[in-house]
Amino acid sequence: MMNTGEGNIQAVLAKKASGEKITMLTAYDYPTALLLDQAGIDIVLVGDSLANVVLGLESTKEVGMVEMLHHAGAVARAVKNAMVVGDMPYCAYQPHPQAAVDNARQFIGAGCCAIKLEWFDGCAQTAKQIIDAGIPVMGHVGLTPQTAAQMKVQGKDAAAAKVILEEAKKLEAIGCFSIVLECIPMELAHLITLQLKIPTIGIGAGPYCDGQVLVSYDVLGLAARYSPKFSKKYVDLQPLMLEAFKQYKNEVTLGHFPDDGHSFHMPQDELKKL
Ligand code: KIV
Repeated sequence: MMNTGEGNIQAVLAKKASGEKITMLTAYDYPTALLLDQAGIDIVLVGDSLANVVLGLESTKEVGMVEMLHHAGAVARAVKNAMVVGDMPYCAYQPHPQAAVDNARQFIGAGCCAIKLEWFDGCAQTAKQIIDAGIPVMGHVGLTPQTAAQMKVQGKDAAAAKVILEEAKKLEAIGCFSIVLECIPMELAHLITLQLKIPTIGIGAGPYCDGQVLVSYDVLGLAARYSPKFSKKYVDLQPLMLEAFKQYKNEVTLGHFPDDGHSFHMPQDELKKL
C-alpha cells in the first residue's frame, strides 16, 4: 500500500507559508517513535545515522536496506500523526541509481510517507525518477556524510556556497517537497531558505531554516561516541541508565530481586500434588 502522506506534506508546506517552525527528529525504534509522535513532532526521520548511533558501525555507508527497512517498519507502526521519512542508505541508490525507485518503494511498503536522499552526482535525475514514481522526496545538501571527504562545515566560501545553493534549487525544481541543510554557515542557510519555496530543515545550519532536525540519541544524551557541536543534549540519560543497570546487578547479586512483589505463587494444594 502506498502511503503518500499528502496531508503531512501540505502541513509542512503550510508551516513554511505561515512562518511556524517545522520540527523533525530521528527515530529507529517503536517506543521512541511513539514518544516523538506524542510530543507533536512533525517529521520522524528513520535516519541512516542508525549505522553509527544504534548499530555501532563506523560510517553511514555501511548500513543496508535490510536494516533500514527493519527499523522503518518499527517506527511506522508507532507513528499515527507525524510524517515518517525513510533515509535511503548509500547502497540503495549511489552505486546503482537504477535501483533507487525500487528501494524507495520498499520504504513506502514499510510504512514511510516519503524518502530522503543525500546529494551526489546524478542526484537530481535519481530524485526525479523517484518523484515521477509518485514517491515524495526530501533532498539533503551541504554536509552529506555518505560521500563527504571530511566531516566539516561546508560552503564557507562564496564558490562552495554557490554550488550548494544551486543544488538546493535543482532539487526544488525537480519536485522535492523539502530539503535538509546540514552543517553550513547560517548566512548561507538563510539565503537558501529565502530563495526556496519549499521548506528547509536545518541541522548545524543555524536558526533561519524553516525547521530543525537533530539525532534523537544526541538530544537524549545517549550518543555512545562523539556528538557534533551543533547538537544539543536536552536530557542526560546515559548516567541514569547506567545507574539502573548497576542497581539491577547489585540487587540480583544480593538476592534482593526478584522479591515477592515481582514473583508468582502456586496454590498450596497444587504444590502438595507435586
Ligand atoms: O541520518 C540522519 O540522522 C540524518 C540527519 C542528520 C538529517 O540524515
